[in-house]
Amino acid sequence: MAQRVQGTEDLFGSYMRAWQRMQDVAREVFGTYGFDMIETPAIEQVATFVHGIGESTDVVRKEMFRVFSGALVESLLAKGSESGLKAKQRLALRPEGTAGVVRAAVQNNLVPQGSAPAKLWYAGPMFRGERPQKGRLRQFHQVGVEWLGAPDPAADAECIVMLMQFFERLGFPSQSLRLSINSMGDGACRPAYREKVRAFILDHADQMCADCLERAELNPLRAFDCKNDHCHAVMAGAPLAPNNLCEDCAEHYEQVKRYLDEAGVCYEEDPTLVRGLDYYTRTVFEVEVVGSGVGAIGGGGRYDGLMELEGGKPTPGLGFAVGFERIVLALESQGVLLGEDSQECVYVACTPDVRSSVFGTVLALRNAGIRTEADYQGRSLKSQFKQADKLGATICVVLGTDEVERGAATLRNMRTHEQVEVSLSDLAKRVAEQLA
Ligand code: HAM
Repeated sequence: MAQRVQGTEDLFGSYMRAWQRMQDVAREVFGTYGFDMIETPAIEQVATFVHGIGESTDVVRKEMFRVFSGALVESLLAKGSESGLKAKQRLALRPEGTAGVVRAAVQNNLVPQGSAPAKLWYAGPMFRGERPQKGRLRQFHQVGVEWLGAPDPAADAECIVMLMQFFERLGFPSQSLRLSINSMGDGACRPAYREKVRAFILDHADQMCADCLERAELNPLRAFDCKNDHCHAVMAGAPLAPNNLCEDCAEHYEQVKRYLDEAGVCYEEDPTLVRGLDYYTRTVFEVEVVGSGVGAIGGGGRYDGLMELEGGKPTPGLGFAVGFERIVLALESQGVLLGEDSQECVYVACTPDVRSSVFGTVLALRNAGIRTEADYQGRSLKSQFKQADKLGATICVVLGTDEVERGAATLRNMRTHEQVEVSLSDLAKRVAEQLA
């Protein structure tokens, strides 16, 4: 039997309905904040991710799935190196949505000079070559938003408020959500802060793991995320970002917190929250569900330098993304199911001699917008009823020889088993009345 790739999932039935429901809630909630949907390709030039996410991040260095056509693989094997490849031949599956959306905003001039900010949301599969485990997949699904052209701290606070509303609309009890925030500074204060952290790690080199020593060279702030308990304990004494902000960043962060307080949003300040993508400046945030054991269900922040890194004019930006698969697991930990098991439907059953009448009856009900099922396998009337039960039908329309001759049908309420005869000419109307 053919197998699906490890760390990927098939979406069908109630799981698929949950993914659709999540997008419906996103459309409703983000729509009230003025966001429109965008869809960018799942495949982009490697450069788009290297510029945006950062060359030294794990996502770019270790987790990005590179894409080569068969012909290109043959020529690479013959040459033994990819050094001669042009940028347009270096392709990757997107590990996240932000870099591609920002690339699209630059390429399509979505934030022209003097215009209002672009407010975009998206939903789709992302790909990271991580070691698969619970809540960590190689193909997973994100819903995300990007807000381009808004430097005001009110935008950071609105983004966070919108994210929390989205989670509550999905069914998370508000006390189950833990929101952490931090400020990582900007081009003015972060370089000096990064050097301080690098110096701290090197001062404690004998107590840190080999990965952290490598991080000290490439990306010292990532040492805050080291899973090694010992490194974690050492990093507890490292210089913290909020104590190393320039005046503008400190004021921006204070204003974000004042707005969050005004909105009544509960948050925890986590001065070690650094996030795994290099494009962030100033506000960063993450949401976890207490006790769910699946890690962050969403995260994001401000990225005021990203438009420029992708070749555009300097334009501030911010956004977040949430992970569908982790949200489903986290909701389950709270006893909430996102996709209903089955959907209400009507079943048209018949005796064998009037089978040909089913076709038109089903058509009439569906034309009236009623979800309708019937038998296409020549089952007996008894097993048609069983099938109707399995499908969760609330009403059975029964066509028998006598009824059809009289231009009538029997409506059978599947819960109460009450039956009434109705005329076929106003069947759809009568079924709709009963469903209501
Ligand atoms: P991220 O934190 O890398 O941020 O991913 C966002 C969410 O995607 C995570 O909180 C998690 O729920 C989910 N996720 C990430 N990796 C996996 C995985 N391997 N398996 C399952 N779920 C996963 C971003 O991607 C940024 N682009 C967010 C953003 C948008 N920042 C600004 N705008």
